[in-house]
Amino acid sequence: MIDGARFRVPFNKPFIAGNELRYIKQAVITNGHTSGGGAFTQKCQEWLANNLRSGAAFLTHSCTAALEMSAILCDLQSGDEIIMPSFTFVSTANAFALRGARPVFVDIRPDTLNIDETLILPAISPRTKAIVPVHYGGVACAMDEILRIAMDFGLVVIEDAAQALLSTYKGKFLGALGHIGCLSFHETKNVISGEGGALLVNKDLGPELVDRAEIVWEKGTNRKAFFQGHADKYTWVQLGSSFLPSEIAAAFLLAQFEYAHQIVDKRRSLVSLYRDLLKPLEDSGFIQLPQTPRPDSDSNGHLFYILTSNTDERGKLIDFLARQGVMAVFHYVPLHSSPAGKKFGRMSDRLPVTDDISSRLLRLPLYFEMEPDDVVIVSEAVHQFYLR
Ligand SMILES: Cc1ncc(COP(=O)(O)O)c(C=O)c1O
Repeated sequence: MIDGARFRVPFNKPFIAGNELRYIKQAVITNGHTSGGGAFTQKCQEWLANNLRSGAAFLTHSCTAALEMSAILCDLQSGDEIIMPSFTFVSTANAFALRGARPVFVDIRPDTLNIDETLILPAISPRTKAIVPVHYGGVACAMDEILRIAMDFGLVVIEDAAQALLSTYKGKFLGALGHIGCLSFHETKNVISGEGGALLVNKDLGPELVDRAEIVWEKGTNRKAFFQGHADKYTWVQLGSSFLPSEIAAAFLLAQFEYAHQIVDKRRSLVSLYRDLLKPLEDSGFIQLPQTPRPDSDSNGHLFYILTSNTDERGKLIDFLARQGVMAVFHYVPLHSSPAGKKFGRMSDRLPVTDDISSRLLRLPLYFEMEPDDVVIVSEAVHQFYLR
């Protein structure tokens, strides 16, 4: 683990909104409720359902857990196939491989770095059960096209919206467009609870999924129906597991939700400043900046990256920035080239864009308490590297 504290501008700094301790005290001392499923869990779920206009929300202890819940909800059989990008975090694939399904890796688009929707159709086989679009950096996938393909072939769409809280696509919130959406509140995300996540279920696309998700979330039991008087026995009815976060984590998260819109606004403004300051380097052909191909969609400013010319240059830039006190990091090792990706998954075809992008992408520092002056420091250091 790299020690971010030794950098003048660290890569990330977790933000404390203010009410976290007060709410934790309320949960633990006043309510006397520390396990999951209490008043704070309820409030967080309401916040998500209201703010993302999603049918139902289930708080989980991570986005990984939400993805695993979604894999259980898909009722997968060994050998079923799930279409997803290779340029993503391991949990996207792991969740399905755990159920015996095979991730089928599809290449990404060079503009959004999201799954290339035109390559989904050729990747579909008789075993395909679901498509998992990943909204990289909170930038929307081509959801209309993806949902149309899913409808045509009777597939489930599970959005990996780990990085996409409050990002929009044509006025709708990411995570609330597919059948299921998975969010992360890990400490590296915009809104945090240490480890945390949520599963969103779209009632319009899968009304029966809500009741089933309730059971999976309740460790495979009909606990909720029992407590509501709809079942006379509390018993094991299907597969499930322990997915709830504690009330302590939910209390922390609610304090963060209260600040979520300000966090996103600030991060968007920092991204926009990075863009302005680094544009001259793009114009001179030294680097490439992220593209924003959809004027009708808005990202949540989750991350900012640049593309260098090649891997060697990226390594030298990371070292140069570190010497200037700036911490910059690269991102995913493509899953199709990882040992487990080769064992549990398969490539739909060659993945040249994934291979190219992952070898050149460099993420620059971005966090809520970052000041515009910090963005200037980072950008000037990048300029110095290229113009020395
Ligand atoms: C695309 C993507 N999916 C899933 C996850 C897993 O999230 P969590 O750490 O909350 O389990 C991450 C984490 O960074 C991610 O980037």
